[in-house]
Amino acid sequence: MSTTNDDRRKVTVPDLGRWKSQGRRMTMITAYDFTFARLVDLAGIDMILVGDSVGMVVQGTDNTLAVDLQEMAYHVRCVARARTKALVIGDLPFGSYQVSPEQAVHSSIELMKNGAQCVKLEGGVHMAETIAAITRVDIPVIGHIGLTPQSFHRMGGFRIQGRSEGMEAGGRERILEDAHAVEQAGACAVVLEGMPMELAKEITEKVSIPTIGIGAGIHCDGQVLVLHDVLGLCDSKYRFAKHYTDIRTPTIEATRSFIRDVQSGIFPDDEHTFH
Ligand code: KIV
Repeated sequence: MSTTNDDRRKVTVPDLGRWKSQGRRMTMITAYDFTFARLVDLAGIDMILVGDSVGMVVQGTDNTLAVDLQEMAYHVRCVARARTKALVIGDLPFGSYQVSPEQAVHSSIELMKNGAQCVKLEGGVHMAETIAAITRVDIPVIGHIGLTPQSFHRMGGFRIQGRSEGMEAGGRERILEDAHAVEQAGACAVVLEGMPMELAKEITEKVSIPTIGIGAGIHCDGQVLVLHDVLGLCDSKYRFAKHYTDIRTPTIEATRSFIRDVQSGIFPDDEHTFH
């Protein structure tokens, strides 16, 4: 298996729409720093999302609400430096776009100046005007509907959405409406998170923009996972998040070996010493 993507060209925003019409499945993964971003880019990922999940997997918070724009700008900068081919998406954190479309445009510009090529924000019908305002200044936007982590308190936790009928937030018909609103506002793609696969399938068939699923089943145009889940770095395990490896155990083991070697006077040995 090849470990480089030298044969690939740089991924651009227009590729996403083209890939949907060709039926080419898209891949997105989160990364927050240079080292991991470089590795996932080398592996051939299409899109790197500098997600506000950084709050939970890097900063140790219970939800994503505390992450601020300057922190996101910093992580976008780290990831953008690592990019060779993947499209880098900057996540707009809670409080950086909900106040007004104007605030959202300012925040989006900030992430773009730090190296993002596209921004992502959460919300459907109520964010349509905001998405339109950002796209009007030629900043591509990815929507995010269904289980929107920034709505943690409204949802009463991270709960699967779209299981009930109706137009209330989180209702099935409302999520369909959200998808259409995001599409019509000019988003270039939409993340579908935490919803029944039947609903994600219907949205994917009905909207012209690519759907990128997480906990939304197989029928989406692409899939996204949080890197720390893929690598098995976290001790928590969500049903939708497949651990492709276990880096947690070897990390603990390697650290224990280092502690043992130092305490017993084995490290540094001659090989790791200057004369
Ligand atoms: O912040 C994030 O990592 C995300 C993905 C879960 C889609 O929004």
